[in-house]
Amino acid sequence: MISGRVFLALALGALSAQAIPSLKPRQSISTLSTTQIDTYTPYTWYASAAYCAPANTLAWNCGTNCQANPTFEPVASGGDGDETQYWYVGYDPTLETIIVAHQGTNPSEFLSLLTDGEIVYSSLDPTLFPGVPSSVEAHDGFQATQSRSAPGVLAGVQSAIATYGATQVTVTGHSLGAAIALLDSIYLPLHLPSDIHVKFIGYGLPRVGNQDFANYVDANAANVPVTHINNEEDPIPICPGMFLGYVHPSGEIHIQDSGSWDACPGQDNESDLCIVGDVPEIWDGDISNHDGPYNGVTMGC
Ligand SMILES: *[C@@H]1O[C@H](CO)[C@@H](O)[C@H](O)[C@H]1NC(C)=O
Repeated sequence: MISGRVFLALALGALSAQAIPSLKPRQSISTLSTTQIDTYTPYTWYASAAYCAPANTLAWNCGTNCQANPTFEPVASGGDGDETQYWYVGYDPTLETIIVAHQGTNPSEFLSLLTDGEIVYSSLDPTLFPGVPSSVEAHDGFQATQSRSAPGVLAGVQSAIATYGATQVTVTGHSLGAAIALLDSIYLPLHLPSDIHVKFIGYGLPRVGNQDFANYVDANAANVPVTHINNEEDPIPICPGMFLGYVHPSGEIHIQDSGSWDACPGQDNESDLCIVGDVPEIWDGDISNHDGPYNGVTMGC
């Protein structure tokens, strides 16, 4: 038996094999050029700088991490590195974007946290996330951490918009900081004027929420582009496990052992060129890959 679609394709093919595009176009895995990889580097340094104490990021005096983006104008910073991860907000006139960055955490402690039994997700807090359907659920611990910095981050972004007339906000972070930043990329647009564009660039991102969460992020990707970059055999991005219901949004870039960067279409792409295929189980992972290097940048202050 021949299906209607195959029949149609055959019929169209008979008419003109060359002129008829595929009926169901598929994105393929694509390797980034050196130029494309380099466009991420300033954000990688910003994610790394979030490991530096708030007093240092507010003075933009944090050594190599700060010097890598010399034109940055800091606006606000906070966190205690314990209950609340460090964060900072400022404006980069070279990239013409407000930067929001969140600190990550100790890789091996984080891995044991993500693989223990207490991985509960729940609906987003309607005060912070008004209008988001209750079926959109995210990790409780990530939500709690994000909620503590949320008011300070929003006030910092509003102040930067007023001071610099900026219309672009880029939220970034590594590890736990990437998870907080991804929640920020949902939170901020709900509280900012619609002409302010938010995008997310994260590193070593763990899974943050359920299927509806990933779908919500994907559905907004035209307005809030999401890129999550993971390195070699880092086990953090495959946690918490998909068997627990956790799903990554689209936008993965996987760094191969060779150092080449591949853009992986879809959610949790199973190709060997992407993290799910490269690191099928935790014990296939190497936690020392979590901090990088990401095109030469190793996370940490
Ligand atoms: C993974 O990538 C391939 C391209 O190589 C694509 O055909 C496939 O649909 C992707 N998988 C998912 C789950 O999106």
